[in-house]
Amino acid sequence: MIESGFGDERLISSERGEYDFEENVLRPKTMEEYIGQDKVKENLSVFMAAAKRRGEPLDHVLLYGPPGLGKTTLAHIVANTMGTQIKLTSGPAIERSGDLAAILTNLNEGDVLFIDEIHRLNRSVEEILYSAMEDYALDIIVGKGPSARNIRFSLKKFTLIGATTRAGMLSSPLRDRFGILCRLDMYTPSELNKIVSRSARTLGISLEESAGYEIARRSRGTPRIANRLLKRVRDFSVVSGSGAIELRDARRALEKLEIDELGLDGTDRSILHAIIEKFGGGPVGLDTLAATINEDVNTIEDVYEPYLLQLGFIARTPRGRVCLKSGYEHMGATMPEQLKKQLSVFDE
Ligand SMILES: Nc1ncnc2c1ncn2[C@@H]1O[C@H](COP(=O)(O)OP(=O)(O)OP(=O)(O)O)[C@@H](O)[C@H]1O
Ligand SMILES: [Mg+2]
Repeated sequence: MIESGFGDERLISSERGEYDFEENVLRPKTMEEYIGQDKVKENLSVFMAAAKRRGEPLDHVLLYGPPGLGKTTLAHIVANTMGTQIKLTSGPAIERSGDLAAILTNLNEGDVLFIDEIHRLNRSVEEILYSAMEDYALDIIVGKGPSARNIRFSLKKFTLIGATTRAGMLSSPLRDRFGILCRLDMYTPSELNKIVSRSARTLGISLEESAGYEIARRSRGTPRIANRLLKRVRDFSVVSGSGAIELRDARRALEKLEIDELGLDGTDRSILHAIIEKFGGGPVGLDTLAATINEDVNTIEDVYEPYLLQLGFIARTPRGRVCLKSGYEHMGATMPEQLKKQLSVFDE
């Protein structure tokens, strides 16, 4: 890792970090400004228009996809478009069912309640949500034992927007109560290029088109990473003192940051290296792999794997992770013939 004066916060991680303090400034506020995700945007716009026409709140929305793709941003845009308030909370922040009951009773008609990391709600809290989402009602049990009674309070009609990086970890009763499911996909380099140039304008950074594209190409499909790389590239360029950031400035900075042509960093490469060198190309279980490279299992699964899978460098098999041909090629290694045969099902 190079010494950059920003601590050793990892640059590639798509989780929010200290370096994202300007994130709110960069957040698009309207659907028109929100770049990419055309299908999601189109669907949400239709549903919002219809709800407005009926004079009702929007149905509950589940947004899912890897970190940093714009879930929180989209939730703000929905509230903005519907002309309502948004309350933000997260699964782990709501400890007791009473906490959630308090939040729900404070909502006004049409408000958006955004619950981030909704897969991390605990069971008793989650159960409160069922009737709240379905009937806009709060069921509370008063008393204990045989004299316990169920009291029902009614709530204002609200819209729940849940966000998760792990749709698979949601219980089915919860998942079934969302009327609108939206999966966010990784962005193309040209979409990221638009995001980077918009951010540069907002931050007053002068950036040549080719330099913006270079950043976009190495941002692993993720707007948060694109914005972060833009800021780091700017830092390097200030040091070297020229006017607009040119392609070679961007390249030099990204090289110093040890981010390769495809946006892979040291951790990505050590994942590939471990699968290839230590486990003969795999299959290797996630836990074993994580222990080998001394990395957190969840971080690998949420942050690193999605992009390596997207590139077709690795695959998930029932017996573990395997490295595919293009992964070998990227690492400058040759795939053993035997593995080639075993894996022929995964190629093309
Ligand atoms: N479609 C987009 N157009 C322009 N900028 C975007 C878009 N999506 C995200 N961004 C930028 O990326 C940043 C991160 O987005 P956001 O916080 O919404 O991600 P997230 O999916 O909520 O991430 P997490 O899962 O970590 O909560 C935003 O500040 C915004 O600047
Ligand atoms: Mg978020």
